[in-house]
Amino acid sequence: MRFSDKVAVVTGADSGIGRATAVRLLREGATVVAVDLKHTAPWPSEKDTARPHRLELDVADLDAPARLDAYLHEHLGRVDVLANVAGILHIAPFLQVSRYDWDRVVAVNLTGVFFLSQAVARIMVAGNIPGRIVNVSSVHAVVSEPHAAPYTATKGGLEAMTRTMASELAPHHITVNCVRPGATRTKMSEPIYTPEIVRSLLAKIPLGQIAPPEWVAAAICYLASDEACYTTGACLDVDGGYAMDGSLPGGGPTHERREPGRRGDRSGIRHRPRHRGTAGPRRLRGRDDGPRRRRLAETHALSRGAGGKAPEWTSVAVDTRTRGGDTG
Ligand SMILES: NC(=O)c1ccc[n+]([C@@H]2O[C@H](COP(=O)([O-])OP(=O)(O)OC[C@H]3O[C@@H](n4cnc5c(N)ncnc54)[C@H](O)[C@@H]3O)[C@@H](O)[C@H]2O)c1
Repeated sequence: MRFSDKVAVVTGADSGIGRATAVRLLREGATVVAVDLKHTAPWPSEKDTARPHRLELDVADLDAPARLDAYLHEHLGRVDVLANVAGILHIAPFLQVSRYDWDRVVAVNLTGVFFLSQAVARIMVAGNIPGRIVNVSSVHAVVSEPHAAPYTATKGGLEAMTRTMASELAPHHITVNCVRPGATRTKMSEPIYTPEIVRSLLAKIPLGQIAPPEWVAAAICYLASDEACYTTGACLDVDGGYAMDGSLPGGGPTHERREPGRRGDRSGIRHRPRHRGTAGPRRLRGRDDGPRRRRLAETHALSRGAGGKAPEWTSVAVDTRTRGGDTG
């Protein structure tokens, strides 16, 4: 079993991705400290898995790192894995976000991760443990999400922080990585997933499915395992291809060509007029430009479409996947 003799702390372990991660770690032999605000959801039956240690903790509290540190010293004496999964999503238009809401999202999603990781990494360094820290970001660190500005800010910050932590902890053989989930069915996302939003999401996910939390947990557990010993500072997309640009079946929005304002132009793509009758690829001066000229000539032929007729409009690719597609 991959996690025999390992102690793993999982935050947000009462629900969703955190719960699925804790259960998988337990099944693979880890001693798990399940951290959450409250423990309400029942665990799988005892004959299936060992019991987790349960610690009720608000990861944003000032004394959360000290309480976790004390718990680990008192009950387990070591820690090998920290999965920072706890997170909150606050939905509000940018113009209406209150200071309180901003502070709370930052406190849970960013400050909490920072100081819990620091507490756990100190134990790992002191014990010479080649530990694993896995943070849970979101596809919305890289794909904009209207009405979720504090959330997207924290997830972007989390990814940057992951890389810095990774470089500082590498000399101690501690790896720090991110998993970047896309649409995943959990308590966080369920209220958002109206049939209309699900339809719109599925149209934007190349693999055409919303993930159960277990698929994200599998990636977290991989990065938490010894198998991932040579990966640090990385971010692993677990999003069915959602964050890929222009890769949707049928070519995706970046390949569409429609006149703005025409019926059916719901792509959200900004268009700019294309000069009719362009003179073709410019000749490059200087060194041997044969291959480059051939490539330009091919591109030019493609852009003129079948029969060499230039389309009236070309598309400027902008991200259109943000409308009605809240994935958490
Ligand atoms: N569900 C998605 O579509 C999705 C997509 C991308 C990223 N994520 C990220 O995955 C992570 C897990 O989310 P989920 O979808 O499983 O949501 P969830 O709501 O099912 O689970 C989140 C858990 O975190 C706990 N939590 C919240 N605030 C806490 C705090 N201050 N201290 C301790 N525990 C706290 C909650 O009680 C809950 O049990 C989050 O970081 C979220 O941003 C989710």
